[in-house]
Amino acid sequence: MNKIAVLVSGTGTNLKALIEAIKNNEIKNGKISLVISSNKNAKAITIAKEANINTMVLDRKSFKLAHEFEEALFLALKEEEPNLIVMAGFLCIIPKKITDHFKNKIINIHPSLIPAFCGEGFYGLKVHEAVLKKGVKITGATVHFVNEIADGGPIILQKSVEVKQTDSPEILQKRVMEQAEWVILKKAVNYICLNRIYVKNNKTFITEE
Ligand code: GAR
Repeated sequence: MNKIAVLVSGTGTNLKALIEAIKNNEIKNGKISLVISSNKNAKAITIAKEANINTMVLDRKSFKLAHEFEEALFLALKEEEPNLIVMAGFLCIIPKKITDHFKNKIINIHPSLIPAFCGEGFYGLKVHEAVLKKGVKITGATVHFVNEIADGGPIILQKSVEVKQTDSPEILQKRVMEQAEWVILKKAVNYICLNRIYVKNNKTFITEE
C-alpha cells in the first residue's frame, strides 16, 4: 500500500476528491497518511480531520524566513517517508532540496493547460484572471511531476475546459475544478499507485494495465 502525503493551503476540494476516490476504490493501492497545511486556517485541515487523517500545520506566515519553512517541510516529509507527495492546492514553491530528494515522487495539480498560464505568480484565481484577460477560448488543468522549475516538471495528465464569454474568474475556477482538476488528479494518483507511470527524457508514459 502506497503512503501518500498531501500538501494543502486552502479550501481542500482536491484533497476531498482524493479522499472520496480512495473510498470508492477509484484509487487502488494508496492511502493518505498525512496532510500538511501551510495555512493554519485552511478548510482542508477540517476535511482531513473529518476523514480521520493525521494533520500537521506548518503555517508559512509564522516562519520568518522561507528557508526555515522549507527546512521544516523537508524534515516532516523525510520523517513520514511517503511513496507519493501530492500538492493539492499547495500555494508555496518547493525548494530543489526537496524535489531532488523526492525525485518523481511529488506531483502537483495546476489550474491551466501547461505551458500556458503557469510558473511563478500563477496560482489559484490569478490563473483564471490571466486566462480571461488574454481571451483564450480553451483552458483546463494539468497534473505534473514537480521538479526545481515552477510548473516545469514532466506532464502526467491534462484535460481541457471551455471558457465562456460570460465567465468571471470564480465561475471559471469552479468549472475547471469540477470538469478537470478533480477528475485528472485522482486518475494520476491511481496510475502512480499502480506503478503505471514512468518518466523518460522528461516525458511521462503510461503503461497498459
Ligand atoms: C486549485 O484550483 C489548484 O489547482 C490551485 O489552487 C486551487 C486549490 O483549491 N493550485 C495552484 O494554483 C498551484 N499553482 P483546493 O484547495 O480547493 O484544492
